[in-house]
Amino acid sequence: MNAPKSRDWQQWEHVAVPADTAQAPTLLLLHGTGADERDLLDLGHALAPGAALLSPRGRVDENGANRWFRRLREGVFDVDDVVARAHELAGFVAAATEHYGMNRDRLIAVGFSNGANIAAALLLLHPELLRGAALFAAAAPLQGREPEHVDLSAASVFIAAGTADPITPIDQARLLADQLSRRGAHTQFAQHPGGHTLPPDVLTAARTWLAQLVSAPAT
Ligand code: MLT
Repeated sequence: MNAPKSRDWQQWEHVAVPADTAQAPTLLLLHGTGADERDLLDLGHALAPGAALLSPRGRVDENGANRWFRRLREGVFDVDDVVARAHELAGFVAAATEHYGMNRDRLIAVGFSNGANIAAALLLLHPELLRGAALFAAAAPLQGREPEHVDLSAASVFIAAGTADPITPIDQARLLADQLSRRGAHTQFAQHPGGHTLPPDVLTAARTWLAQLVSAPAT
């Protein structure tokens, strides 16, 4: 489904950083619970120097913490809200990337935790939007309501998960990797011994993955 461009996109708090060149990719940065649109800017620069960065702020307020969708409790999501918010975010991305003249053939989401979860929902609900996604500490966000007939064969996904993650059990990341792979996504799974975090060696692996993805011909 093509995302209709949001008409109120300028009301979203966000940071937009222009690319160094027209061919450079665009990273859609999606922060974790309690962070904001500035949190992942350094990560974006480190992952893809010279890329355009589009970094919005999650619009759900959970006791003062910014999030991308509501949850009933830790790990149990309000899936209706996930779906509605993913559609809203797709509309923001469509409008903002057009306004800023960002490269949409190489639009790659980079999400941490709750931001990785909404990025995974975007992949499943708006497969046309993203060329790929780097998902750090991600869970399977649609919790049984994944659409079956989605073709993700044009998408590449990097999923990193910690075996000692107390917030997002690694089985959730494995389930998500399976859901995306079964729909055709080229999925790389990076397991690490840490918790709900992004260790330096995972960052290095994600950089390599991203460099390969952006040097491949656009589909
Ligand atoms: C979520 O709620 O999306 C995940 O459980 C991770 C978190 O944000 O705490």
